[in-house]
Amino acid sequence: MSSFPVFDPASPQAEAIRDLFVHVLWISGAIFSIVAGLICIAIFKFRSKDKLPTQDFGSHRKEIAWIVAPVIVVLWIAAISAKLVLTFNAVPIAHPPGEQVADLIVTGHQWWWEIEYAGTDIVSANEIHIPTGKRLRVQISSADVIHSFWVARLARKMDAIPGRENYIWLEADEPGVYQGRCAEFCGTQHAWMNFLVHAHTPAEYEEWLSKEKVVPPAPTNPIALAGRKTFLSLTCSQCHAIAGTKADRSIAPDLTHLASRGELAAGVLKNTPENLKLWLKNPAAFKPGCKMPDFKLTDQQLNELVAYLETLK
Ligand code: CUA
Repeated sequence: MSSFPVFDPASPQAEAIRDLFVHVLWISGAIFSIVAGLICIAIFKFRSKDKLPTQDFGSHRKEIAWIVAPVIVVLWIAAISAKLVLTFNAVPIAHPPGEQVADLIVTGHQWWWEIEYAGTDIVSANEIHIPTGKRLRVQISSADVIHSFWVARLARKMDAIPGRENYIWLEADEPGVYQGRCAEFCGTQHAWMNFLVHAHTPAEYEEWLSKEKVVPPAPTNPIALAGRKTFLSLTCSQCHAIAGTKADRSIAPDLTHLASRGELAAGVLKNTPENLKLWLKNPAAFKPGCKMPDFKLTDQQLNELVAYLETLK
């Protein structure tokens, strides 16, 4: 991944943003050079006390020139920016109730992202899968405070506002993994509200989709089975959902396919069994302020839970 993702666009939208940025940078650079150049000339030319420039007041011509020129520059920048913004806003379709209005529904939470795939039962967290070359309409809102959804290489930023739905286009030219972040301060763990966008070729995307639609079966391994029991009997199921079980709450991330995700806790940890155990043992050790408490689970309970969660492929 580039260290300057905005300079490395991977979608037509991100490319247009980069082009606008470079365009404005050239204009500002030119103005800066002219002003700085004139200052340097003045400093050099009038460096001695005996050489004072002739004072020049009341020239209407010059006044008009230096008012009109900046106004033209500002209007020009405003016009090219407005043109771009207008092409970016995915227009929400006028919809009869119950009809699909977006391809992806993204909800910001403190401090993770919930992703629903419209027209399916698939719900996930902090990981978005999209097919390449297709412009997807993404609906963005928030369950608590204002967040901002940003995938620098693919699209513009968009605020996630409670009680309001905003829409953007999300699109990727090439298959790959694109880093997403929350771009609006939303509390202590704002910096750990990362997500990944996986862009697949259309065929691979269909494959992923059909895999994701499968509800993981109950485990047969006795340790994992014990973990499943623990999960459903403890408070876990009061916040999380796992398809095919009675756990169906959406206060915390959906765990139906947790084991197939790459990261834990919105980017804090790589998703490995060891890290999962550490996370379950004391979430606040990795993400202070996070809403999942330390349940004082015994080592055996932790092992069983990890064994179960690892079956959720
Ligand atoms: Cu969510 Cu910052």
